[in-house]
Amino acid sequence: MRAAILKDFGKPLSLDEVAAPGLGTGEVLVDVIAAPVPSYAGEVFSGARRYLLPTPVIPGCGAIGQVRAVGPDATRLQPGDWVFCDSTVRSRDGALTPDITLQGWSARGEGGQKLQRYFRDGAYAQSMRVPTENAVPIGAIEPAEAGRWCAIAVLMVAYGGLLAMQLRAGETLLVSGATGNFGSATVALALAMGARCVIAPGRNVAVLDDLRRRFGERLLPVRLTGDAATDTEAMRRAAPGPIDAMQDFLPPSVSANVARAAIMTLRQGGRAVLMGGVGMLGGEDLALPYPWIMRNLITVRGQWMYDTVAIPGMLGLIQGGLLDLGHWAVTEFPLAAVNDAVAHAATHAGPFRLTVLRP
Ligand SMILES: NC(=O)c1ccc[n+]([C@@H]2O[C@H](COP(=O)([O-])OP(=O)(O)OC[C@H]3O[C@@H](n4cnc5c(N)ncnc54)[C@H](OP(=O)(O)O)[C@@H]3O)[C@@H](O)[C@H]2O)c1
Repeated sequence: MRAAILKDFGKPLSLDEVAAPGLGTGEVLVDVIAAPVPSYAGEVFSGARRYLLPTPVIPGCGAIGQVRAVGPDATRLQPGDWVFCDSTVRSRDGALTPDITLQGWSARGEGGQKLQRYFRDGAYAQSMRVPTENAVPIGAIEPAEAGRWCAIAVLMVAYGGLLAMQLRAGETLLVSGATGNFGSATVALALAMGARCVIAPGRNVAVLDDLRRRFGERLLPVRLTGDAATDTEAMRRAAPGPIDAMQDFLPPSVSANVARAAIMTLRQGGRAVLMGGVGMLGGEDLALPYPWIMRNLITVRGQWMYDTVAIPGMLGLIQGGLLDLGHWAVTEFPLAAVNDAVAHAATHAGPFRLTVLRP
């Protein structure tokens, strides 16, 4: 089969003919129809992100595909089924604290790397092998729409955070990084899930205006000034009442005081979910005042990816017409143009834009 290979960090991906993966018990072979290229893929492949990804490797984090073959223990999946290949692979011998690898992308800790040695290659190939439970049926879709369905790779990450904070219909949510790729998906999802309104802070006025155009009065944009105290006050003032919860999707390049300014808008009893990665590449750590957390009964938690069992809930929002994948503008590249796709993704980052490979 044809596959894009990252032979070494800092080198362009090369297109090679490689042996198709074999199939064992507990595994499914999937023909990759569309695979998303995140805006920061170039940072991963250059080594700038310092992701744990041993080379050479077929990279690629998640895919929409069709089942080619199933292992002997699959009871429902059939060849031809359309599936979302969930990249979040968990070890099966540690139910309480499973090791995790993001297939074709990165790993967490020593256990994650051990798992990665087996579930190593990702989606930038004609077919891939995934654990059976990671091939999640999405129902029949039009093949031409497979690229647009890659939006669920982004949406599921956002959904993981909203489930972690137990967002309830009628609540007011603040999304830090709302003008970005994952942040804007969080906005769309929270409104679909019945949030009363979403506070959307950002520096990019054109994107803030676009969000307002898309979502109307339940979207409350706030232009950030860079001064933490001013910004916290502006975010609070934009809300119709107390802010119940916030989700952070600021990338590692952003300083901790921007994240802190957004977190400290929360009401008493408020919940913060941290997902963007501030501090991952060094810099000031996120310090939050102990007395403020204590006196205000604040919950702060991190979230990495999502539980596979959450996927049907998100599919329900789409299939029930509550969440419109039509928001996403898709640019597709053939596998042979993988390096163009990576460059395009970097220069076309931001809300509701998808760069997709069609192997
Ligand atoms: N936890 C997880 O499971 C998980 C999964 C996938 C990805 N992630 C992480 O999520 C992060 C976000 O990715 P993305 O693709 O959404 O990034 P993105 O599209 O580049 O968005 C970045 C956001 O940060 C804002 N921002 C940047 N610098 C800022 C500053 N100085 N002050 C205020 N806002 C600033 C941008 O707003 P303006 O341009 O308006 O300023 C924009 O809203 C990445 O770091 C990624 O690694 C986490």
